[in-house]
Amino acid sequence: MSITLNDITGTGGIAPGAGEILSIRGGRPLSGRVSVKGAKNLVTKAMVAALLGNSASTLRDVPDISDVAVVRSLLEVHGVRVVEGDEPGSLLMDPRDVESAHMEEIDAYAGSSRIPILFCGPLLHRLGEAFIPDLGGCRIGDRPIDFHLDALRKFGAVVEKLPSGIRLSAPHGLHGANIHLPYPSVGATEQVLLTAVRADGQTELKNAAIEPEIMDLIAVLQKMGAIISYEPNRVILIEGVKELKGYDHRAIFDRNEAASWAAAALATDGEIYVEGARQQEMLTFLNVVRRMNGDFEVHEDGITFRRGTGAMRGVTVETDVHPGFMTDWQQPLIVALTQAEGQSIVHETVYENRFGFTDALVKMGADIIVHPHGLQDGPRRVPRRQLEQAAVINGSTHLTGADIVVPDLRGGYSHVIAALTATGESTVRNIGIIRRGYEKLLPKLSGLGADFDVIG
Ligand code: EPU
Repeated sequence: MSITLNDITGTGGIAPGAGEILSIRGGRPLSGRVSVKGAKNLVTKAMVAALLGNSASTLRDVPDISDVAVVRSLLEVHGVRVVEGDEPGSLLMDPRDVESAHMEEIDAYAGSSRIPILFCGPLLHRLGEAFIPDLGGCRIGDRPIDFHLDALRKFGAVVEKLPSGIRLSAPHGLHGANIHLPYPSVGATEQVLLTAVRADGQTELKNAAIEPEIMDLIAVLQKMGAIISYEPNRVILIEGVKELKGYDHRAIFDRNEAASWAAAALATDGEIYVEGARQQEMLTFLNVVRRMNGDFEVHEDGITFRRGTGAMRGVTVETDVHPGFMTDWQQPLIVALTQAEGQSIVHETVYENRFGFTDALVKMGADIIVHPHGLQDGPRRVPRRQLEQAAVINGSTHLTGADIVVPDLRGGYSHVIAALTATGESTVRNIGIIRRGYEKLLPKLSGLGADFDVIG
C-alpha cells in the first residue's frame, strides 16, 4: 500500500517528499486570510479511538497532513477500512474487521510518528495483543514512554521488550486501575482514556493533562458510549463499559497552527485573519500577544492578528501544561520576539531540547542566548522541572537571509517565518517535516503574499 497526502481527504495536499527545499525572499509583511482545520493533536487520537467502536466512525475537519496519513496507514494495516466521508475533509473509519498486523508492516508505516503507542489499549481490547515499534516524533528531547507502560501494566497488560519495539498482551483482560501520573503528560492521559473506557470496572486518573484536545477526545469517547467525568484538580474518572459504537465528530480547531500564523503576522508586521481560531482555547496565548503590544480582534469565526501601535515589547513566558502557555507556541513566538524592543525570556519546562531551532535564527542575526539549565532568578508560575531550559532574546534585531536546515515540526515552521521576516534570500532545507502538522503550507504562504520558489 502506498498513499500520498492527496489520498487522505481529497482536498489537494502536496505529496510527502515534494518541495524539500525552499528559496525564500523575505522582508515583506504576510497579510491575508488563512483557515485552520482540526487539531493534529486531537485528530490523530480520535482516529485511534475509532478502533474501539463496533460500527463506523466519521471524523470531520481532518487536516491534510502527513501525521494523519501515518495514522490512516496504521489503521489500514490493522484491517480498518478508511475512506473519504460525506463531506470534503471527513474520514469514515470502519473497524469491524480489525486484525493483527506484522511488526514489520507497523514499523514501515509508523514512520516518524509517536502515535503508535496509543494503539496499545484499543488493540489489547480488540485483539488481546499489540506490537509497537520504536517510536519517532520530533527530536525535542528523550520523549520516553515510561508513563504509558506503567499505566498499561496497572490495567493488567504484560509488556515484553523486543529488539525492534514492544509486544503487549492481556492474558487476563484489562481491568480498571488507580493511576497517578508523575507529570500531566498529554500522551499518557490519552493512553489511560483509550484503555480505561472498555476496561472492566472504574479507573481513577490523577494528575491528568486537561488540554482542550484531551477534552475533545473525551467528547468523542462519550459519543461512543463511554462514561467519563472530570473532577477538580486534574482527576478524571472513567467507568468501563462493555461495548462502544462509532462516532460522528467535528474536530476542535488546531490552536497550534492558529498561534503559528499569529506569530507570522507579528514577526513580519503583517495582518492575518485566522479563520477557525477560537478565543477560549487561546486565552493564554492572546494575553502574551497583548503584553508584547501585539493586537488581535476576535470575530465570530476567527481571530485577526497584527502589531499594535508603536513598537512590540519583550515579554517573559514560561511554557507549561494547559492552561499554561503551550510548548508548541514558543518557537514561532520567539521569531516574533526577535522583532520586539528589549529583552524577552522564554522558559521551556515541558521538553528538555526545544531551543535547537534558535541556532538558525542567530545565524540570521538574532541575539538569542540559550541557557541549557534554565535561569535561577525570578518567581515562577510552576515549580522548576529538572529539564528546564531558558532562551534570552534581545531585540529588536535585523534578520538577514541564510541557508538553514529545518530540525523539527514547530522549529521548522519558525525557520520559514524567520526567512520571511529576514531581508534578502534564504534557502530553507528539509521542509517536508513541516507537513507533519501544517496543512497546505505552501499555498497558504502564497496566499499571504510570501515570495518563494520550491527549488528541490
Ligand atoms: N514524558 C515522560 N514519560 C512519558 C511521557 C512523557 O517522561 O511516558 C515527558 C516527556 O518527555 C515530556 C513531557 O513528559 O518532557 C510531556 O510530554 P507529553 O506526554 O505531554 O507529550 P506528548 O503526548 O508526547 C503531545 C503533543 C506535542 C505537545 C505535547 C505537550 C501529540 C502527538 N504531541 O506530545 O505536540 O508538544 O503533547 O502539549 O499530541 C507538536 O505538535 O509539535 C508536538 C510536539
